[in-house]
Amino acid sequence: MPMTTPIIGWEQTTPVPEDHAFNHFLSNHNGHLYLDDFDLMQLFEGSPVPNSPLASPAELVYLPLIRQRIQQMHGWFDDAIRQQKYDGRFLYTYASKANAAEEVIRTTLTSGAHHEMSSTIDVDIARLMRQRGLLTPDKMVLSNGFKAYGSNYANNVLQLQREHGRVIPIVEDLSEIPTLIGSQLPFDVGVRQKSYGNHPDIYQMDAADSRFGMRLEDVWKAAEYIEASPNLTLTMYHCMVGSQLTDTADFTDRLTPGLEIYARLKQRYPSLTMFNFGGGMPIPMTLDFTFDYAGFITQLLARAQEICGQYNVAVPDIVGEFGRYTTAEHGAHIFKVITTKDNDSPLPWYIIDGSIMTSFPDVWAIGEHFICLPLNHLDKPFQQVKLGGITCDSDDIYPQASSTAQLFLPVETDELYVGFFSVGAYQEMLGGVRGSKHCVLPEAQEIIIDKDANGYHTYEHVPGQSAAEVLNNLGYKT
Ligand SMILES: Cc1ncc(COP(=O)(O)O)c(C=O)c1O
Repeated sequence: MPMTTPIIGWEQTTPVPEDHAFNHFLSNHNGHLYLDDFDLMQLFEGSPVPNSPLASPAELVYLPLIRQRIQQMHGWFDDAIRQQKYDGRFLYTYASKANAAEEVIRTTLTSGAHHEMSSTIDVDIARLMRQRGLLTPDKMVLSNGFKAYGSNYANNVLQLQREHGRVIPIVEDLSEIPTLIGSQLPFDVGVRQKSYGNHPDIYQMDAADSRFGMRLEDVWKAAEYIEASPNLTLTMYHCMVGSQLTDTADFTDRLTPGLEIYARLKQRYPSLTMFNFGGGMPIPMTLDFTFDYAGFITQLLARAQEICGQYNVAVPDIVGEFGRYTTAEHGAHIFKVITTKDNDSPLPWYIIDGSIMTSFPDVWAIGEHFICLPLNHLDKPFQQVKLGGITCDSDDIYPQASSTAQLFLPVETDELYVGFFSVGAYQEMLGGVRGSKHCVLPEAQEIIIDKDANGYHTYEHVPGQSAAEVLNNLGYKT
């Protein structure tokens, strides 16, 4: 595929036209940037936000976008199931590894999502949510990741099953099965096949270079052991084929060998009812993003019908574990341009009051791109610039030195605020929550926005780290 240059913001020197929509959740009105229907400059200009005007930098958590995403995915599946006359259900699970913050899990669980987890503290989170009545008895809790014999995670999964009864361990490795058998707890069980990549047929899936999932022969063995165990029932087949997959045909083709294995297993083990394609659902990290979600879902259901028809078995319920898709768009980081510098570098520098590399480490580490737009002065001329973080690290810049992406920001820099968008999945956890960061920069304050039943915004303010917290964390007693 030809390499294209990602579009990370406004790419012209002219002002952004009034009411311009950058994508489905970012737009320009009266020179201000709106996230959904929220004028972001309200954070820095006063009412109605409590504690405002806020000082920058700030992390924005905008929960309505999580709800919208979950509802939209359900809508696309409902439509496709009806149109295709698909005789199975769709089950949305949230992959908590993308962002395990309390407000995120609370929102996914109250918006129709089942739950997926992958570590022992994840189990503790599920337990806390159960105690609060948010993880209700109808919710499946999928357990992925390595559940080594005797590990805290494996034991914690058993404990959660005693309390919740709907935990589905997805077997990564044959060695995980004895713990489940030995527990004597009734379990619906999944088997995960090694499946990353695009493989022309079922026999070539084994060639995948991945530490996740079992080779084909072991999938069959696992199914056999599960079937032979009175307390275990095989209900789910799992194959995840990649991440941020933006080509609908490629995504469907990657899942096709897995669908065939599902159908073969189903012939022998009728208790199997769920096909879980894991994560990989793409999101708009940049503005040139396009993906036909409804088209992909229609293709996937049609392929499942075709293959299950060939094997004369019922079509599966489709399960997805949506991490990035659920949470990427709800998170933004906002900085203020504190100074500009023209030192005969190829482009003028705009210096912000925070760090790009500690806030979104994958920009620096793997050259990732995210949407970057001003919050104000959108109705004024723009120029091409480079952003520099406040750390003294030469890599704390955006775009990265190797990137061909172009960043344009307003020429007017008086009280100019700049936001990074689509950073709500993984960045928060990769950057670390609290703790000590590069160049001892404190963590920014957070503002959590939701909507009440009447559609009015609600606000929660979480103060940033104090100097004393950072110093104590590093062993200085203040
Ligand atoms: C087993 C499993 N499920 C789901 C996900 C979430 O993937 P995504 O963020 O692409 O939705 C991951 C991500 O690594 C994963 O390993």
